[in-house]
Amino acid sequence: MKQSTIFRVSIATGALAILAACGGDVAETDEGAAAASDEPAIIGERQSNFEGIGDAFKVIRGQLEGGAPDFAAIEGAATDINERAQRITEHFPADTSVDDGYDTEALATIWEKPAEFEKAAQDLVDASAEMITIAAGGDVAAVGEQVKAMGGTCKACHDEFRLDTD
Ligand code: HEC
Repeated sequence: MKQSTIFRVSIATGALAILAACGGDVAETDEGAAAASDEPAIIGERQSNFEGIGDAFKVIRGQLEGGAPDFAAIEGAATDINERAQRITEHFPADTSVDDGYDTEALATIWEKPAEFEKAAQDLVDASAEMITIAAGGDVAAVGEQVKAMGGTCKACHDEFRLDTD
């Protein structure tokens, strides 16, 4: 299903209390930062949403690193990613790219190629849904393959739509 909500500003429904406890090297851009008070709240919301996606993906990879993965934990994390992935396109109202001077890694290409951006988000929705099914099957090798497929959707979108700060 195509979503057509890319330019719709979602109403903030309560704080996404995500502390990114194990967020690792999550993005901290220090270039072109606008004063925090001028920054639309939606930018923080989408970053929190991505941090949640990043944390949940780490849970999945961490389970695979151990010898005996907890498939229920993998399924739960994939479900979290799936729900968050469905909200990605709601978080990108016009004029909130890095070119607008905000502390964000959202490239203007998101708004130049909205259909491709929506497809990139949908790819993660689909890959995470598949992971939910595969995890329930309890096959380590199959889960490992699906982790790669999911990671590919992160990379594909980041390569085209996220500022590379490295
Ligand atoms: C549809 C595109 C898209 C997909 C798919 C996607 N990302 Fe991102 N991600 C972005 C964009 C754009 C940003 C920058 C957001 C900003 O700074 O406003 C970002 C930022 C992030 C951040 C930094 C959040 C912060 O603290 O600012 C993390 C972590 C992240 N993504 C992880 C992931 C992981 C892991 C996946 C796959 C499981 C993934 N992303 C899939 C587009 C995507």
